[in-house]
Amino acid sequence: MNFDPRASVLLLPSLAMLLVFICLLLVSPLLVQSFDANASSTSAARALDVLLQDYAYKAFVRPRTGVPYDARVPSNFTGISITAMRLRSGSLRTRGVRMYKEFEIPIGVVEQPYVERLVLVYQNLGNWSLRYYSLPNYTYLAPVLGLLAYDASNLSATNLPELDLRASGDPIKIKFSDVRLAPNGSLPKCVWFDLHGLVKLSNLTSANECSTMQQGHFSIVTESIAPPSPPTRSEGKESNRRTWIIVASVLGGVALLAFLGFLVLWARKCKRRKKMQEMEKAAEVGEALHMTSVGDTKAPSATVTRTQPTLENEYVP
Ligand SMILES: *[C@@H]1O[C@H](CO)[C@@H](O)[C@H](O)[C@H]1NC(C)=O
Ligand SMILES: *[C@@H]1O[C@H](CO)[C@@H](O)[C@H](O)[C@H]1NC(C)=O
Ligand SMILES: *[C@@H]1O[C@H](CO)[C@@H](O)[C@H](O)[C@H]1NC(C)=O
Ligand SMILES: *[C@@H]1O[C@H](CO)[C@@H](O)[C@H](O)[C@H]1NC(C)=O
Ligand SMILES: *[C@@H]1O[C@H](CO)[C@@H](O)[C@H](O)[C@H]1NC(C)=O
Ligand SMILES: *[C@@H]1O[C@H](CO)[C@@H](O)[C@H](O)[C@H]1NC(C)=O
Ligand SMILES: *[C@@H]1O[C@H](CO)[C@@H](O)[C@H](O)[C@H]1NC(C)=O
Repeated sequence: MNFDPRASVLLLPSLAMLLVFICLLLVSPLLVQSFDANASSTSAARALDVLLQDYAYKAFVRPRTGVPYDARVPSNFTGISITAMRLRSGSLRTRGVRMYKEFEIPIGVVEQPYVERLVLVYQNLGNWSLRYYSLPNYTYLAPVLGLLAYDASNLSATNLPELDLRASGDPIKIKFSDVRLAPNGSLPKCVWFDLHGLVKLSNLTSANECSTMQQGHFSIVTESIAPPSPPTRSEGKESNRRTWIIVASVLGGVALLAFLGFLVLWARKCKRRKKMQEMEKAAEVGEALHMTSVGDTKAPSATVTRTQPTLENEYVP
């Protein structure tokens, strides 16, 4: 094999770049994960909606129309409260609901697609709000409340799709009952999460009151007063971890580079030593043939000579 060490010296930087690149490639799923967080939190919230619909419908035992029924939640969700109310959709549209928990539903609210009877499921996520509806840079001043509409034709159905509930006239009002005071100087805001992960912020319509034209999840938040040095703990951890990953991959790259350099030097040394050995061998062979002066000329001669070389013109009798 014809291995030229000079070629490898030229190759080395590009090889090192390749290795660093491979290292980065290996850790990149970890980096990407953190930017994908809202997709997964949306699906977790959707899964919670499915579970809560199931439990809310369990509250109906020969239900009367227009009467709210509080439902039980599974024990691993203590802190969430849910309520279900069955309505004729015609009555919802023409009369509204004066007060359903914190929601004031005006005349003109309609569902799509049309059903004859529907169920309004109310959720109060309590201390689970942040778990399912995390909102970076904002602090919740009230629990997240949900209002979702489902078809009431089969009260033992699960996994029901939501109906699209919209106000066609006045907006639905949400009168939050338990709102913490916003920190000095910060402005409280209404937040609305639609069912597809869209988040919208708006001004309060009056003290502790928000309004909406559609169903979804609602709360009151305030911008976290940014203490510039300590970001939120998980964010800090995240960026810390990222920094470590980058530092580790760079160090790994450098270590690999050093190792490769060492290999090349070693190969060179080996080659040089081999050359030296060859030269030595050649020298030894040369030494074996002693140069002996014969007359005026030099001629190779063996150390042990059986017949001394003689010149032809030198006559020895
Ligand atoms: C809570 O329990 C329900 C069933 O009782 C289960 O489907 C759900 O995954 C559990 N959730 C958590 C967060 O433990
Ligand atoms: C909410 O509080 C209840 C007790 O009141 C507790 O069992 C539950 O784990 C808490 N939930 C969260 C997400 O901390
Ligand atoms: C939160 O605030 C920080 C600093 O003000 C900003 O860099 C970051 O993009 C914000 N995060 C979101 C999700 O808005
Ligand atoms: C109602 O839903 C349950 C569960 O999906 C199903 O087993 C049942 O057949 C349905 N009843 C009717 C009348 O569709
Ligand atoms: C809070 O606001 C009041 C009135 O705006 C002001 O007098 C007070 O100094 C503020 N306190 C802090 C800690 O900023
Ligand atoms: C993630 O958040 C962005 C902006 O906040 C939003 O546009 C996007 O729809 C969200 N993704 C999902 C899957 O909800
Ligand atoms: C929200 O309220 C603030 C302060 O009251 C005001 O300056 C701002 O214009 C309002 N924004 C909207 C969209 O009404």
